[in-house]
Amino acid sequence: MLRGAMSSPTALPRIPDNDLLGSFGPSTAQRLAFQRTLATQSAPVVRGRILHLPVYFPCTPEAAHEVLVTKAKSFEKSPGLRVLLHDLAGDGLFTSEGALWRTQRKLMAPLFQPAPLHRYADTMRRVAERAADSMRDGGRIDIAHETTRIAMSVVGAALFDIDTFDEADALGAALTTCLAWVNDNLATPALVAHVLMLDATASLAERTQGPVRAWLHRAHAKASSPFLLPGVRDPKLREAVRVLDERIAQMIADRRRQGLTRDDLLTRLLTARDPDGSGAAMSDAQVRHEAVTLFVAGHETTATALAWSFYLLARDPEALARAVAEADAFGDAPITRWEPERLAYCTRVFREAMRLYPPIMMVPRRTLEPVEIGGATLPARSLVFVSIYAQHYRPEVYESPDRFDPDRWLPEREAGRHKSSYLPFGAGPRFCLGMHFAMMEGPIVLATLLRRWRFDIDRSTTIREDNFATLRPLGGVPAVVRAR
Ligand code: HEM
Repeated sequence: MLRGAMSSPTALPRIPDNDLLGSFGPSTAQRLAFQRTLATQSAPVVRGRILHLPVYFPCTPEAAHEVLVTKAKSFEKSPGLRVLLHDLAGDGLFTSEGALWRTQRKLMAPLFQPAPLHRYADTMRRVAERAADSMRDGGRIDIAHETTRIAMSVVGAALFDIDTFDEADALGAALTTCLAWVNDNLATPALVAHVLMLDATASLAERTQGPVRAWLHRAHAKASSPFLLPGVRDPKLREAVRVLDERIAQMIADRRRQGLTRDDLLTRLLTARDPDGSGAAMSDAQVRHEAVTLFVAGHETTATALAWSFYLLARDPEALARAVAEADAFGDAPITRWEPERLAYCTRVFREAMRLYPPIMMVPRRTLEPVEIGGATLPARSLVFVSIYAQHYRPEVYESPDRFDPDRWLPEREAGRHKSSYLPFGAGPRFCLGMHFAMMEGPIVLATLLRRWRFDIDRSTTIREDNFATLRPLGGVPAVVRAR
């Protein structure tokens, strides 16, 4: 393709609309089919739309890499996500931008390096064992429900030193209500209209003076919250936000009263100091936003990836036998330490499950300035969606992309693949802060449960995906627990 001919975004190949509203389509099946179409595009970038707005999809790993990594400075995260998470974790690391994000990332990154996280290996094992203890031979369970309880409990223990499923459940129920609302409003025309209003008030304010300007500034500040979106005033949602606010504020107050001696991430957030800046600490409000962010980002994703891992293993006797053999090699000793070489196969299973079912399917960005991606110059304020799912199904990168094949992740088979052809944790400056945490938790929980029980599922039915905040198994993963 000629570079010169591609410089205008209007010359980019158009991807067909899914429905009247634009590219995505309202149902999970439509959204997945759309991303399968993206996976087979040879053009680096294609053009779609939401309502009348053009939106862009980088298709090749190289183009995705430009957006997320090499040209990341020319992008911000989608303002829509910030609006949606405003009441929940508005200024937390997932949604903040600019100087605040940089300071916070610097403060928090040391807590999420592999070495400081090793202390949580035993917590992960303990929580998984407690779940295994609660199961009975012949019992019917939903694996997705179990992995949610486990992941919520693990992050609850690591963050807040909460040691029971029940306490994590109370926070979890509130969180689920909030996430359901976020999910209902994700990538909807109402959200796009809200973001347009946000932009319009900002640009009009720049061009006016006096009381009109002050009014527009107030309107802009108001539009940063989702006050016009459907369901935002629902009493159940307001109550859920209140529960999260109050419980976490209480936990912060408890720690301050007790002298910040506890060994949990919340205490570490409260005592963290900017290493090469002013040495300043976070405000309590900032800590609350970060704590909710970590609680949200840290459990639903891991739980989903674990549920699919068990599902895929239950359908593949050979892979299951290899994972079980690895778990059994620990003998009677509990898996209390993180020894990656002893969980190499479970790690490959977990990685392959996230290839087939990336918990976060797509990451939205917006251009801050005109920027060239894949040979086309995208104008400032363009919406760009990097489909993680589409990258994971590119047939020229992954042979038989629909096949579950954990050995794809053997080092010799991985060599030569473009870095951005596998993106479950994103890439570039905004890549997942909790990646090492999740990559320990997945294999430890898998091995701990597989040592104790076999999970039989009905192999004649294929479980479909449900595009909730993450790519969940629709209807869960019903299974019968069998003694080994
Ligand atoms: C299998 C599990 C997980 C998956 C698939 C996952 C995926 C992701 C992805 C794709 C992003 C990047 C979003 C973007 O670029 O727009 C992200 C960011 C983030 N994740 Fe995770 N995540 C997982 C687990 C965790 C855990 C366990 C934690 C914390 C305990 C966590 C905390 C975060 C935070 C704070 C960010 C925002 C980072 C920033 O913008 O600086 N995640 N995650």
